Amino acid sequence: MASLLRVDASIRTEGSVSRAVADSAVEAWRAAHSDAEVVHRDLAASPLPAEAWARALTAGTTLEESRTPEQRDALELVATLASELLGADALVLASPLYNFGVSQHTKVWIDLLVADPRLGPGSTALQDKPALLVVAQGGGYREGTPRHGWDHSTSYLERIFGDSFGMDLRTVVADLTHAGANPAMAHLAEAAERSLSAAHEDATRHGRSLGIAA
Ligand SMILES: Cc1cc2nc3c(=O)[nH]c(=O)nc-3n(C[C@H](O)[C@H](O)[C@H](O)COP(=O)(O)O)c2cc1C
Repeated sequence: MASLLRVDASIRTEGSVSRAVADSAVEAWRAAHSDAEVVHRDLAASPLPAEAWARALTAGTTLEESRTPEQRDALELVATLASELLGADALVLASPLYNFGVSQHTKVWIDLLVADPRLGPGSTALQDKPALLVVAQGGGYREGTPRHGWDHSTSYLERIFGDSFGMDLRTVVADLTHAGANPAMAHLAEAAERSLSAAHEDATRHGRSLGIAA
């Protein structure tokens, strides 16, 4: 059975653009895989404990019999998260831009993943595994815009999943999501609509082909 890991991080459940675009990808993926399982990890609804990361790292340098119950729990969480990703045939990660960076919930998840020896530096365990990164941004950061370079989330996520883990990563961006609500961005409403509709189309196309050899 094919399996997809879907990870959400938007703090919104209603009106979330990253969730809606990820829905398009997952729907297309389900349609292309008759016998399929989607594992859902919602990092915003069920945040991972930030303190687990340091506990897992210190557990690694502590003799097994001397580890505290908290360190053992942290190691178990690390192994669970890494196994979830390693066990999936493909990943869809929906990522909102917050304060020009990655959501804290996503950062905790990534730090815990990298703490697993199977996914640490030099690991090839995820090499070429298909992944789709869905990005939602209230503003616009494309080349030529005044704030080009201010989005410190997308390049970081591409670095981790594409370059470090070596996954076969595609990225879809829905930007200007605040254009409808922010009067100062009213002139960008059409561009926002175009961006959203292109994001859904791209997510559908990628969702259909994720994990299917060309
Ligand atoms: C706390 C907070 C901080 C945000 N910071 C930024 C930001 O730095 N740049 C930006 O373009 N949008 C920012 N936004 C807007 C979100 O990126 C935008 O609403 C996006 O659509 C969120 O994803 P979602 O629709 O899936 O919830 C922020 C939103 C919130 C709630």
